[in-house]
Amino acid sequence: MRVLGVNALFHDHAVALVVDGEVVAAAEEERFSRRKHGKRPVPFAAWELPELSARWCLETAGLRPEDLDAVAYSFDPRLARPASEQGLDDPWDHLRLTYAEKAPGFLAAGMPGLDPGAVQFVPHHVAHAASAGLAAPVRDSSVLVLDGRGEAVSHLAGRYAAGELEVLASQALPHSLGLLYEDVTEHLGFLRSSDEYKVMAMASYGQPRFLAELTDPVRATGDGGFHTDPVDWGSLAKRLGPGDDWTQDHADLAASVQRRLEEVLLDLVRWLHQQTGGTALTLAGGVALNCVANTRIAAEGPFDQVWVQPAAGDAGTALGGALHVAAGAGDPVGPMPGADLGRGWTDAEVETWLTTAKVPYERPADIADAVAELLADNGIVAWFQGRSEYGPRALGHRSLLAHPGFPANLERMNDVKGREQFRPVAPMVLAERARDIFGRGPVPSPYMLFVHDVAASWRERIPAVVHVDGTARIQSVDRADEPLVARMLERFEARTGLPVVVNTSLNTAGRPMVDDPRDALECFGSAPVDALAIGPFLVRRGQWP
Ligand SMILES: [Fe+2]
Repeated sequence: MRVLGVNALFHDHAVALVVDGEVVAAAEEERFSRRKHGKRPVPFAAWELPELSARWCLETAGLRPEDLDAVAYSFDPRLARPASEQGLDDPWDHLRLTYAEKAPGFLAAGMPGLDPGAVQFVPHHVAHAASAGLAAPVRDSSVLVLDGRGEAVSHLAGRYAAGELEVLASQALPHSLGLLYEDVTEHLGFLRSSDEYKVMAMASYGQPRFLAELTDPVRATGDGGFHTDPVDWGSLAKRLGPGDDWTQDHADLAASVQRRLEEVLLDLVRWLHQQTGGTALTLAGGVALNCVANTRIAAEGPFDQVWVQPAAGDAGTALGGALHVAAGAGDPVGPMPGADLGRGWTDAEVETWLTTAKVPYERPADIADAVAELLADNGIVAWFQGRSEYGPRALGHRSLLAHPGFPANLERMNDVKGREQFRPVAPMVLAERARDIFGRGPVPSPYMLFVHDVAASWRERIPAVVHVDGTARIQSVDRADEPLVARMLERFEARTGLPVVVNTSLNTAGRPMVDDPRDALECFGSAPVDALAIGPFLVRRGQWP
């Protein structure tokens, strides 16, 4: 069965293609449209469909729209109720609902040849759940989904057994841990539904001084759900505008909300375990991108194993929706093969891009070794290899790399990317060396969804990747999955004694991650990066004729 999953309604619109139960391709529209998150999460943007990524997805599999057996749309308007009845302050929500109801016709118009009758609505949280439970390497799992909102709920707790989902609890709106975190994100001067990870980073600079004020309004209710009553944020810390300087009060507020979120999540996880008695927990929904909370769930929760969907935000519902429909039709759905499900180019295609741009380049005997040498000399390298990543993290395919041994490299990387200086950059590390250096968080951690304590003896050696609280959000690199990245790390260790490299996403301020060779050349051309390693080719700064 050929199923195209589509996430379109809120933001991070994306597609995924599942053929006979196997994940063939998945991509976010932002990588094609070059607009971060694809669109703003407002009702009047709900009509925008991921048409560019959908076209690519079909082309790459050699399919036409009429060849699809089903299109899974990750929102079911039949489950929604008017915003006012749900306690949501969203006067235009009915527009969003109208667009969802009309989606089959819109999709057929956008993909000529598609039968509108092939479009199936999948409940939003079921799509999230499938992106965890059906995409994980474990067969059966307890599953927990938390996000801002779906049709009428903000959460799902359940269990997957033999590919079938049993829903055990869901929390009706307006109660929403995701919306609570979005509210504080906005209060701190950041962009809601986008910059939540900045609040998590800021929390490390504060103390949870306002925890008592949050304990009653934000609480688990003992039945698998929770309440989030309104909080007067302004009484705790003054509201900030974009770019305003933050104070200790703001960091303490971030720390308090972060801590309370972790506590309530642990309550929900423990309740779920009481119901299922399972050993494996799978997580999805935007809240599951909170790697600090994930780490506490793994370290202090009752499950032996925790797996998080790398595209845990709404983009992942394209994949989950497609897997759900395929499984429902009896296809043997397999785990996702990795996060590198986007566009890729042959060496010959990459070389054509370089010759067309008249860029001087070389082809070293081993690109991994050449890059290791540049990094050892404290160069910054744009690393463009293989297929692009699905989800918000660069995992060694569209990455910006640097030496972790110099404290100034944190500032240097944040400057290249135009990011706030309080934000950390992360390390990639050879999987078999990870435990020597990084404690507490789970290993392997191939998708950067947990944080780890940096061993005291290593903090001085890799200062660029140690956050203010002594942690690092690692990507562990397995030789079998990522042979080229692993070789680069090995060659870097041979030169420096450090099996760790700074890895951040390849993009500049406010732009989506680089996806195609043109993006890579444009990014290299405009940012103070010393070299671009694109496929087997190396372009060096300062070699222009
Ligand atoms: Fe969602």
